[in-house]
Amino acid sequence: MHDGHKPMFEHLCVIGLGLIGASFVQAVYHANQRLGSPLVGKITAVDTNPKSIKDAIAAGLIQDGGDTVSAVAAGADLVVIATPVQSVESIMQTLKDAMNAGVLPYDAIISDVGSTKVSVQQAADRIFGLGHHFIGGHPIAGAENSGFDARNGELFVQHKLILCPTPDSPADAVAKLAKLWQAVGAEVIQMDASRHDEILAYTSHLPHLLAFSLTHQLASHDDNLDIFRYAAGGFRDFSRIAASHPVMWHDIFIANKSALLQSLDEFQAHLSEFRQIIANEDSQTMLDWLGTARHARRHFGHMLAKKPMYKPYSSTISKDKDAIKDTIMNQSYHIRPQNTIAGTISVPGDKSISHRSIMFGSLADGITQVSGFLQGEDALSTLQAFVDMGVKIERQGDKVTIHGVGVDGLSAPAEPLDMGNSGTSMRLLAGILSAQPFDSVMTGDVSLSKRPMERVAKPLRQMGAKIQSTGEKGTAPLSITGGQALNAIEYPLPVASAQIKSCLILAAMWAKGTTTIIEPEVSRDHTERMLKAFGYPISVDGNKISITGGGRLTATDIIVPADISSAAFFMVLAAIGGGEGLTIEKVGMNPTRTGVIDILRLMGADIRLSNEAVVGGEPIADITVRPSDLHGIEIPESLVPLAIDEFPVLFIAASCATGTTKLTGAKELRVKESDRIQVMADGLATLGVDSTVLEDGIIIQGKGVAGEKNAIFGGGVIESHHDHRIAMSFAVASSRATDDIIIHGTQTVNTSFPGFAELANQVGLAIEVK
Ligand code: S3P
Repeated sequence: MHDGHKPMFEHLCVIGLGLIGASFVQAVYHANQRLGSPLVGKITAVDTNPKSIKDAIAAGLIQDGGDTVSAVAAGADLVVIATPVQSVESIMQTLKDAMNAGVLPYDAIISDVGSTKVSVQQAADRIFGLGHHFIGGHPIAGAENSGFDARNGELFVQHKLILCPTPDSPADAVAKLAKLWQAVGAEVIQMDASRHDEILAYTSHLPHLLAFSLTHQLASHDDNLDIFRYAAGGFRDFSRIAASHPVMWHDIFIANKSALLQSLDEFQAHLSEFRQIIANEDSQTMLDWLGTARHARRHFGHMLAKKPMYKPYSSTISKDKDAIKDTIMNQSYHIRPQNTIAGTISVPGDKSISHRSIMFGSLADGITQVSGFLQGEDALSTLQAFVDMGVKIERQGDKVTIHGVGVDGLSAPAEPLDMGNSGTSMRLLAGILSAQPFDSVMTGDVSLSKRPMERVAKPLRQMGAKIQSTGEKGTAPLSITGGQALNAIEYPLPVASAQIKSCLILAAMWAKGTTTIIEPEVSRDHTERMLKAFGYPISVDGNKISITGGGRLTATDIIVPADISSAAFFMVLAAIGGGEGLTIEKVGMNPTRTGVIDILRLMGADIRLSNEAVVGGEPIADITVRPSDLHGIEIPESLVPLAIDEFPVLFIAASCATGTTKLTGAKELRVKESDRIQVMADGLATLGVDSTVLEDGIIIQGKGVAGEKNAIFGGGVIESHHDHRIAMSFAVASSRATDDIIIHGTQTVNTSFPGFAELANQVGLAIEVK
């Protein structure tokens, strides 16, 4: 964070020792002691109440204090103003005077903790002028008690702290201030001051106004004592925040007047509508409104459930702790061009099948043994979710033993289920959780939190589930209310998606009646195959899948074949590289997954299959790929769902081909772990390959020369956008590059392909992991 001797801030001066100011001082003091090497060298405070200063000095929280800024704040490199919003401007003026008098450095960072940000920012602009170091802050934490004695050093722990820097704020100052708040336990987020004020008007200022208003209304009744005497929990809960500090709230209501009035107007219109519903005794609408509100409030309760960002895994899988820790760090690949590719390799287990083995094994009666399990973070997220729901799962490397609890045996998780980067876990589990008797919440990382979840929530609601995507745009966190009876539906899938299909198949196991799902095009069918293997009847008639609820699953052993999606990186590498080429052993050859082989063959690749066999209901084969000349093609749209995860690396193949390759009908690529059309086009452009982005695909201008393994790509820096397949695809490109390729954000490779870099180096690439 900072070197061992020099504190991050030499002198912190807090102005105002009310609840927030005093809690901050106390929290910084404790963090300073806890961290050994101090965050802050010296803490001082200014307050007009001499008793607060005296008590703070006596408690050892501050070294010095008084009632004038110039005396106390001299030499401070951080000043935090913690007084009611209306007084902030005059305090800023005093600080500016102190700067002019040479008492306070001009580059001192000035911040505040007020609940409105636009007016404070404007005051700072007026007083300090251009290039000032004012960075507004607002801890979303508080209590109805006020004053120094109400202080609480834990007040900010696991609470949000909003910083509102301007585009001119120095980045290092923002970073230092953020670190200080993080050190006192806050989760720091940044937003624009006006956005802050709009949001806070609805979530904080309006509710406070209503609490003050109703309490004032009742207090104004002549018989108010009787009212208060008989008021019970409802009044107590609703009015709690009306006991907050009047001056503070007066200042906030005025400072955020326009956003607050807008939210109040909306509230009044809504209330009038509600009045009319009651006057009309319109029971249906009323129940509808009350039900929606109750549901939303319960979801909000789930969202407030606290969870650490990376919870430690339970002892049965404690070896994964290190893998998880690694993901927190930002990793990159630095790759030197190398193009002699040769070897015989195995790639890790199939991701889709690994997920499903844990799900069905957990829900089965009896013990399921899985071998070849993918030890990647996505599959481990699914595994951890079932451990969290009370299933005993033991893992030794790629061997997993699952002690099934039966379709009615899951128990409520104590915390939100963390799905990490894994869309498959979240979407498939949505189907299972919708049918459980308990409430649940699923969260995910940045990439997963941007991916569409309404595509599963909508049909699940049609089945009677109570599920809400609580993110901004129909995205995670997903919040599910348990105890709903599900009914069978007939559902034509709007997109060919195995995840939506599988989610509905899973929910249908608990639904009353027979659910029918109609696919627009065939997508991977591992769920259907594995259900049959676990003895649950399912009928597949062309594109129509039917399943009747109420059955049970019987444990069985699963052998997971190697993942063709992981093999694809090495197939393309062998085709575009020099050397002898590669053999990849025992790869899953499920016909709903082999589109990549068909597409590469259409482009002229030399691919041979050998040792074909069927293992655990899934076909497998060894794949041998020799270097060859590739040529551009129009990719048949019927192959798109069968190669959906392989397009990033196929774009690398297309870049090395002669002529143009055109992909259409692949809009789904835009909602994968990243927007794979745009992100690939950007990366290709960085490396000197031209492409035209289409809404549902891409046209790539191949740079290959027939009969040569010419250099196609220049060097450059690629952003993976939290997408494992983007990272691996550009690593493959290095075999035909002129210069080094650096790929940022490669830690996500662990989600599907742990050991990728080592294996790639073994066959001839030169990846250095940093
Ligand atoms: C998967 C289905 C595909 C695929 C994903 C895994 C699965 O997603 O992209 O990596 O295991 O069912 P869609 O079904 O959304 O296309």
